[in-house]
Amino acid sequence: MAETKKLLRALAGEVQDVPPIWMMRQAGRYLPEYRATRAQAGDFLSLCYNPELAAEVTLQPIRRYGFDAAILFADILLVPQALGADLWFVTGEGPRLSTITQQPDFDALKPVEEIHETLSPVYETVRILSRELPSETTLIGFAGAPWTVATYMIAGRGTPDQGPAHALREENTALFEALLERITLATIEYLSAQIEAGAEVVKIFDSWAGSLKGDAFQKYAVEPCRVITQAIKQRHPSIPVIGFPREAGDGYIGFAKSTGVDCVALDNSVSPDWAAERVQVNGCVQGNLASSHMVTGGQALVDETRRIVEAFSKGPHIFNLGHGITPDADPENVQLMIDTVRSWRNA
Ligand code: CP3
Repeated sequence: MAETKKLLRALAGEVQDVPPIWMMRQAGRYLPEYRATRAQAGDFLSLCYNPELAAEVTLQPIRRYGFDAAILFADILLVPQALGADLWFVTGEGPRLSTITQQPDFDALKPVEEIHETLSPVYETVRILSRELPSETTLIGFAGAPWTVATYMIAGRGTPDQGPAHALREENTALFEALLERITLATIEYLSAQIEAGAEVVKIFDSWAGSLKGDAFQKYAVEPCRVITQAIKQRHPSIPVIGFPREAGDGYIGFAKSTGVDCVALDNSVSPDWAAERVQVNGCVQGNLASSHMVTGGQALVDETRRIVEAFSKGPHIFNLGHGITPDADPENVQLMIDTVRSWRNA
């Protein structure tokens, strides 16, 4: 049977008149209905571990906008928590975790087989979503890439330059690589369980890939993504994988070939013309409107949206932002972006 879901068609390499569209962090604080459900859950982590409410916030942007894909509502930092790290969120500041800087911190982590004890509510969220989503909407599961997850586990928080993780990588390479390997294996099991529960695509978020340069980029961004993608494809050959090595710059070139991902997600630091020529030649790309347009709106949003759709119109493309939508975004600007994408051929 021919595939009818627009997102899966793009991932299979089909060039479409109008690209499928969804948005990173589409379930989030810019939506009043999200804020209401989050208040009902109590806090962010309680929302992540409550399957009914997590499914509800996942569905909210689908109901409001009719996006072509829904992304499971969860967080990349649930994997460290499932491996035994303490995790909490400080309102207005972000995540905090117990740190991993010495061998005993690593030795105290749980084995990979035990992650499902913590993560099983996430799989239940996926099961609810695969029942409740409209038949044309694709369900995306996700995880953080090992390097990005490790930066939080090592520093115990978000850092502007990932300094503590780079320091450990240089000073205790064996410990750093053991941590990356544990996260890699946990991520394979986590994504496989999401797929078995009904996820149709998985995305690997390497938000801090841009701070790895040269050989380190190959070893700690490309290689773990290749290992995870290969394992997923071995177990679930029909499941497409999206890779997001954010701010990789020239590292985007050849990333699909060297990792085996079906689609490369682009941040907005690369121009769509540059990426069409150098990255889209190897297959589907996703991106890459600056999320600031969701705050500022107006003609600039329309012009930039059209420029991106046009630049990528000769190959497979999934329209998206270059990074997550921010809490100060105006929900009406999201509608304007969608209308612009869906009507660009008539403009
Ligand atoms: O995209 C989606 O709608 C799906 C859900 C999703 C969330 N986080 C929900 C969330 C996804 C895919 C993520 C990924 C994630 N989480 C990444 C990678 C992508 C990226 O943004 O670079 C990272 C680095 C994290 C870690 C994380 N989670 C941070 C640093 C923060 C705090 C910063 C912030 O925006 O507040 C979070 C919290 C978080 N994750 C929120 C949401 C909706 C906001 C929490 C809230 O409601 O208070």
